[in-house]
Amino acid sequence: MIDPTLAEFARRIPKAELHVHIDGTLEPEMKLEIARRNGVPLAESTTEEIRASYVFHDLPTFLAVHYPNMAVLRTEQDYFDLCQGYLARAHAQGVRHVEIFFDPQLHTSRGVAFGTMIGGYRRAILSERERTGISAELIMCFLRDRGIDDALATWEQSEPYRDWMIGVGLDSDEKDHPPVEFVEVFSRARQAGLRVTVHCDIDQENTHEHIRQALVELQVDRIDHGTNVVEDAALLALARERGIGFTVCPLSNSFVTATMKADEIVALVREGIPVSISSDDPPYFGGYAGDNYAVLADRVGAQAADVAAWARSSFRAAWLPPDRREAYLADVDRFVREYPAISSVT
Ligand code: ADE
Ligand code: ZN
Repeated sequence: MIDPTLAEFARRIPKAELHVHIDGTLEPEMKLEIARRNGVPLAESTTEEIRASYVFHDLPTFLAVHYPNMAVLRTEQDYFDLCQGYLARAHAQGVRHVEIFFDPQLHTSRGVAFGTMIGGYRRAILSERERTGISAELIMCFLRDRGIDDALATWEQSEPYRDWMIGVGLDSDEKDHPPVEFVEVFSRARQAGLRVTVHCDIDQENTHEHIRQALVELQVDRIDHGTNVVEDAALLALARERGIGFTVCPLSNSFVTATMKADEIVALVREGIPVSISSDDPPYFGGYAGDNYAVLADRVGAQAADVAAWARSSFRAAWLPPDRREAYLADVDRFVREYPAISSVT
């Protein structure tokens, strides 16, 4: 068992979270409350019943549980509450900077206006920045199982809100949906000055080819999950050469595959690749960013110095200007220096 002092240190150390789906942060309590005020009928009437419905064993079965929950979200206030709640919980676990995925198609396909959804997120980001100092950016993800035409239509819809987005991504069910299908929309995003990242989920069919396409054809700046890269020396060398960061999610991995891929994550760090340990969809996978640090530290027998290296690495993987990156790295150093009783675990 992990030393409780080290677990608390891992939870609280300043960190950047770079892989969290805002749509996937709907806690059961909030689902009940928003459904009640919007008059949306639910099959469940208690948080226990909702949690009991969270049964899945891979990516498609997880998405089949998560997507129907979106039906409760309708008003700008709903999107504000969702994002505000996440930012407050993340901040309590040391998150100082977050780059948040949002999936517009989960909402626009139900008749919610793009502006209603992103307006709520934006207001929450400004409000929590004011309240706690947390910095948050938005990454618009395309649902790969809805194809390129829907992605291009979503790209057009997002035009009035481009200044509120730092990048674009690609998520949802990967089977039979390789990155190369989305070259056109990613090239438009790059031309518009946005950063690009792509999910290469764990242990997927053709995963090495998908990672190659993301790196070579889509020219990504980062890869989400993608830990299978350690199995292919040439791909790993290419990622290292390009300075590509990886966003990794230990708790999520242990739900959608057989393991949390702890050895692969540690191998990436050892290779000097920037890595952000993140939560993915926290209510479903049982923890926020700090919990993911603690569970990984426990699994690999990490020391405080290792945890501090993970936190530094998360800011190196972030899309931050150099001066802000340096300031966050200095915050990590200060936190380590001043943490009470940390000498007992180093
Ligand atoms: N949507 C929410 N979480 C996801 C994940 N880990 N992979 C793909 N799509 C997702
Ligand atoms: Zn994800």
